[in-house]
Amino acid sequence: MTTTPFPPELLRDVEKRRTFAIISHPDAGKTTLTEKLLLFGGAIQLAGTVKARKSARHATSDWMEVEKQRGISVTSSVMQFEYQGHTINLLDTPGHEDFSEDTYRVLTAVDAAVMVIDAAKGVEAQTIKLLNVCRMRNTPIITFVNKLDREVREPFDLLAEIEGVLKITCAPVTWPLGMGKAFRGVYHLLQKQVLTFTPGEERRSDGEIIKGLDNAELDSRFPLEIGQLREDVELIDGASPPFELDEFLAGQQTPVFFGSGINNFGVQEILQALIDWAPPPQPRIAGTQPEGTRMVQPAEPAFTGFVFKIQANMDPKHRDRIAFFRICSGRYSSGMKVRHVRAGRDMKLANALTFMANERVIMEDGVAGDIIGIHNHGQLQIGDTLSEGENIGFKGIPYFSPELFRAARLRDPLKSKQLQKGLQELGEEGAIQVFELEGGQMLLGAVGVLQFEIVAQRLKDEYKVDAIFEPADIHTARWLTFPDDVTRRNFEREQALRLGKDIDGNPVYLASSRYNLEVTAEKWPKVTFHATREHGQVLA
Ligand code: G4P
Repeated sequence: MTTTPFPPELLRDVEKRRTFAIISHPDAGKTTLTEKLLLFGGAIQLAGTVKARKSARHATSDWMEVEKQRGISVTSSVMQFEYQGHTINLLDTPGHEDFSEDTYRVLTAVDAAVMVIDAAKGVEAQTIKLLNVCRMRNTPIITFVNKLDREVREPFDLLAEIEGVLKITCAPVTWPLGMGKAFRGVYHLLQKQVLTFTPGEERRSDGEIIKGLDNAELDSRFPLEIGQLREDVELIDGASPPFELDEFLAGQQTPVFFGSGINNFGVQEILQALIDWAPPPQPRIAGTQPEGTRMVQPAEPAFTGFVFKIQANMDPKHRDRIAFFRICSGRYSSGMKVRHVRAGRDMKLANALTFMANERVIMEDGVAGDIIGIHNHGQLQIGDTLSEGENIGFKGIPYFSPELFRAARLRDPLKSKQLQKGLQELGEEGAIQVFELEGGQMLLGAVGVLQFEIVAQRLKDEYKVDAIFEPADIHTARWLTFPDDVTRRNFEREQALRLGKDIDGNPVYLASSRYNLEVTAEKWPKVTFHATREHGQVLA
């Protein structure tokens, strides 16, 4: 642990950072909310910019278009903007066809998340998956219940569903006054005032405020809706816990805001919550040699950070890759020399990128919480740590158990060496997960189907291998650890047909169904079945 006091300027800059992602099910309103947040931050002037990109993404599945859209999705991978003296980094979580393991991994690089729930639909499948990933690090969650301008479900019903399904306590901060055509605004439970909503009118900074729940003005303006609101608030006071910052920071309680993203209503409250409540960059645990595990403090002067995402071939003309790198301590400056810990050598960091709204710009300066994009030709892998000399490896950047599987078969059997090499490299890069079965068959695992498309195309372009991916009858994968060698050998003998090895040679159980996994786990209580695995280079 360093004993140097934190440099005051660095400490001040770190405290001003907020790094977060939006988690939601497709169509809940993530793109719309992103756009409104950027508008508030002045990062984009034109409404519709983010939206237009999204439509371009959906227009076609032709490969060149996929390349193009991936280029586009890179520029929106990280959006940095200023708000009230704070620097906010919004990390994109690709959610439609481009849903992939990256979507999960992005969540390992944020300090908070905003969960968008469609108030007509409630908690949906992808939200559950993404929240479970946030839970691995107890990431604080702010909840935005969206689309109150539509006929939606009862707010109490929605909160009960969030609490029941997601196992997180809800502390409502705003509460709707009416809904659908009769949506009149929200009551701020902490400020004890109503913020009024006028359909079609975008509330930018100062909407109309009516103070006090028993204010007679509310009775005259909203005679049909105010009674219900007063009843609800009484119920909330009795039934819902008040907002507790500590519980929010521990990931146990989520403040809930109601609004309508498309009408820009409730968006500013989300930004305010990010600034007032969401944490600045947090200390991170890392293995070091020779000292063992330690917490890296964000305002430590020495630069450290890790790669959480690799984007390849963004521009077909330049076969480069961008490693997305989260700074965990110190300060980035262009031209600095850093240690690539896994490779055991030094490299120069120059011309790192950040992505201001939709342009690439050269990053001049960055501190903990900021994301930089580092050009490289395959030297950097997911999970790699760079430091200013220290032999250190950050933990908590996992591989996630794939949800989709394909068996790889070659059209030209003479190319099997190239296939092996290609899959090994693409697997190491994190584009796809690769398992080898008994007998040498290669199995691919992904979280989203686009991953298979990209890998097929990259095998063709970069390795000149024409491979066919066939459906494989596998439900999920679990990494295995054994208490002793005897158990391992017995397990291997009995389960040979369901065993494989991952890219680093770790044993993996490939379950044919959930039932199969449950039965096997029950039969082998001493064997541990892990749904994630750390990237390789963790030290200590
Ligand atoms: P996503 O990124 O989570 O997939 O969602 P997105 O923002 O694209 O929103 C999905 C749809 O929901 C869009 O409609 C969007 O306009 C609509 N929407 C978002 N927020 C609100 C809201 O507060 N109220 C209402 N009524 N609708 C909302 P679409 O028909 O798919 O697109 P568009 O034709 O409106 O652009």
